[in-house]
Amino acid sequence: MNYFTRKDTRLHVENVALDRIADAYGTPCYVYSRAAMEAAYLSYDRALARRDHLICYAVKANSSLAILNVLARMGSGFDIVSGGELERVIQAGGDPGKTVFSGVGKSESDMRQALSAGILCFNVESASELKRLDRIAGELGKSAPVSLRVNPDVDANTHPYIATGLKESKFGVPMEDALALYRTAASMANLRVVGIDCHIGSQLTETLPFVTALQKLLVLVDRLATERINLSHLDLGGGLGIRYRDEAPPPVSDYIQALMTALGDRKHKVLFEPGRSLIGNTGILLARVEYLKHGTHRNFAVIDAAMNDLMRPALYDAWHDIQPVQPRSASSRRYEVVGPVCESGDFLGHDRDLSLAEGDLIAIMSAGAYGMSMASNYNTRPRAAEVMVSGGEMHLIRERESISQLMSAERLLP
Ligand code: LLP
Repeated sequence: MNYFTRKDTRLHVENVALDRIADAYGTPCYVYSRAAMEAAYLSYDRALARRDHLICYAVKANSSLAILNVLARMGSGFDIVSGGELERVIQAGGDPGKTVFSGVGKSESDMRQALSAGILCFNVESASELKRLDRIAGELGKSAPVSLRVNPDVDANTHPYIATGLKESKFGVPMEDALALYRTAASMANLRVVGIDCHIGSQLTETLPFVTALQKLLVLVDRLATERINLSHLDLGGGLGIRYRDEAPPPVSDYIQALMTALGDRKHKVLFEPGRSLIGNTGILLARVEYLKHGTHRNFAVIDAAMNDLMRPALYDAWHDIQPVQPRSASSRRYEVVGPVCESGDFLGHDRDLSLAEGDLIAIMSAGAYGMSMASNYNTRPRAAEVMVSGGEMHLIRERESISQLMSAERLLP
């Protein structure tokens, strides 16, 4: 099913034409399809139907409340990396009891907050973190549920900034230290060892690294069982890629199937922490062409969205498809699609063949994940509005930020 289609040549999200959304809410504006989100969630849920499982949506991919709420209503759990994300989950109607806490730098206040909320599990990444968690749980008179995030030293074959499973990465506990650390955790008074966790990177387009990582994990899981450290769940992380251009990631069902085969007849509950594969292709960034600059060397389309709205091209040289909302019949030119920010790295796309006029609307595709959640206010640009489409309805889920909001926390000297 495609939720972004053309009707009478105009680009629609479900049954709403994008120019209607621009008229109602202005640009730049993120637009999401609720049905696409629900379908993506169901593709995981169905593939896991025969196993005890929990899908913990990685909140960092897009932490807007309405998105968390749509997923919470489907029964989703959450993967968080800060106390702030935990507050969002709760505010959006998510269940802390279905929430796992990842990340290398959990602060004391993060831990207190998560223990008080009663989260499902802390994915612990170092010996020092284990000690800190034990102490804080003791102070609160609680027992903290823990997994160790193990670093399996597997090459994810992805962009180096988003690969996390190699030895040299800051993430997780090295495999060779994990057994000893599990023994330590099991002996700590205020900790309960409940699982194991691993996440090797993001935007992976093949199954093999996931399977290799799981096989390495299982050697440890089986060994722990012989020491009566029995885990109730295995958290296999997130990381499945999506198609931006011509990537061919495996379908969710194949990816899950390969992992479940590797798991064999072990009875553990399985957790996944998908972000991008749940929402990446459910959203677009809608923008308007401000100026066209045609030159002898290059043509520029200056649009009203910029690197502060969608940072992925500038940060990772990421490629996002760019489509006109209403195509023109005039012959195309090759454009650098750029924003108004004062940096040469402020581009949304290089060398795009488009037929454009000033004032045209364009859609930057596959922008649902790591778009809005990584947006900044650089150049004192208010963050974009966000709209969720459901069938023929459009709902404003985040107002465009105002300049006064941007300055509201600031003070002049006396
Ligand atoms: N679990 C953990 C512990 C993670 O660190 C991440 C992502 C996920 C799950 C979700 O991974 P996903 O299913 O979305 O691949 N900003 C980058 C991506 C950074 C990913 C960070 N960790 C981008 O725009 O490509």
